[in-house]
Amino acid sequence: MRKTTLVTGGAGFLGSHLCERLLNYGHEVICMDNCFTGNKENIYHLMNNPRFEFMRHDITFSLYVEVDEIYNLACPASPIHYQLDPVQTTKTSVHGAINMLGLAKRVKAKIMQASTSEVYGDPTIHPQPESYWGNVNPIGRRACYDEGKRCAETLCFDYYRQHNLPIKVARIFNTYGPRMYMHDGRVVSNFIVQALQNEPITIYGQGEQTRSFCYVDDMIEGFIRLMDTEDEFTGPVNLGNSGEFTIRELAEKVLELTGSKSELIFEPLPEDDPKQRKPETKLAQEKLGWEPKIGLEEGLPRTIEYFDAYLKGKLFDA
Ligand SMILES: NC(=O)c1ccc[n+]([C@@H]2O[C@H](COP(=O)([O-])OP(=O)(O)OC[C@H]3O[C@@H](n4cnc5c(N)ncnc54)[C@H](O)[C@@H]3O)[C@@H](O)[C@H]2O)c1
Repeated sequence: MRKTTLVTGGAGFLGSHLCERLLNYGHEVICMDNCFTGNKENIYHLMNNPRFEFMRHDITFSLYVEVDEIYNLACPASPIHYQLDPVQTTKTSVHGAINMLGLAKRVKAKIMQASTSEVYGDPTIHPQPESYWGNVNPIGRRACYDEGKRCAETLCFDYYRQHNLPIKVARIFNTYGPRMYMHDGRVVSNFIVQALQNEPITIYGQGEQTRSFCYVDDMIEGFIRLMDTEDEFTGPVNLGNSGEFTIRELAEKVLELTGSKSELIFEPLPEDDPKQRKPETKLAQEKLGWEPKIGLEEGLPRTIEYFDAYLKGKLFDA
């Protein structure tokens, strides 16, 4: 039987790729988004598909739809956006999770919660396994996001224990690719856009902090495999690429691939910026048979191509 799947935050970066993949697998897809950080441009190419439906809706309000599966992605993901209206960010994570878990319970749907590596805060162990409880500042400027996501995880597990609801929690690490929002301050899009425009590349601190970067197609594969696990498997499961690069190395790779003349400039580190971030992905390998296949050498050029076309106005002509 054909599944009907709800993707919240479906007009965003990850959500739009997920909608596309689910349609390719033959699902009916309801894409719900309030277009705060997402954009209808990301899903224009899906609008004519009779199995695709876009709903403008704010997840902090109840939603009644009949679905078999829910991927709960709605939430601004970049610090610039989630710090714009921190109260709304917490509401989006917490009220949003309550609304989606309540919906899943009513219609007996499976639900996957898009959590984040930020639940580990500024980690004191490295790499971070799922059993690590994290080191989060509960009153800092990132807390609206980090603690909101942590509370959403709590809600998932309480719905699981109290109501037997099939839940899946994915802890997503840095993901990049086409359709990232250009000005959201995330490091990959920032560097690429600065390089393509031959503007200085801004590095915070000395650029010695490390990050791991997962290409979007690998991440979406991880979501789908996680949703397809048996009901007993809840996660949380780390999804990310364990290849570790310093921010400076990333900047140098982008410069090389774009052939840019940009220079590197250094600015002070923002508050609570984690020094190291790298997923331990053994659980995903064991339970989902998943590991990322697309390295920076392949993923960066695809992303650069997208931003290059975007900046030249060659996308969305239709
Ligand atoms: N991209 C990453 O590297 C990354 C890493 C960790 C976690 N995540 C999580 O994955 C999810 C998707 O992230 P993304 O990178 O695609 O970000 P994004 O900002 O592109 O997408 C989020 C989407 O949610 C929508 N949204 C925000 N508030 C909403 C609300 N109140 N009601 C309805 N829709 C709302 C936005 O308009 C946007 O389309 C988020 O939950 C994010 O926390 C992403």
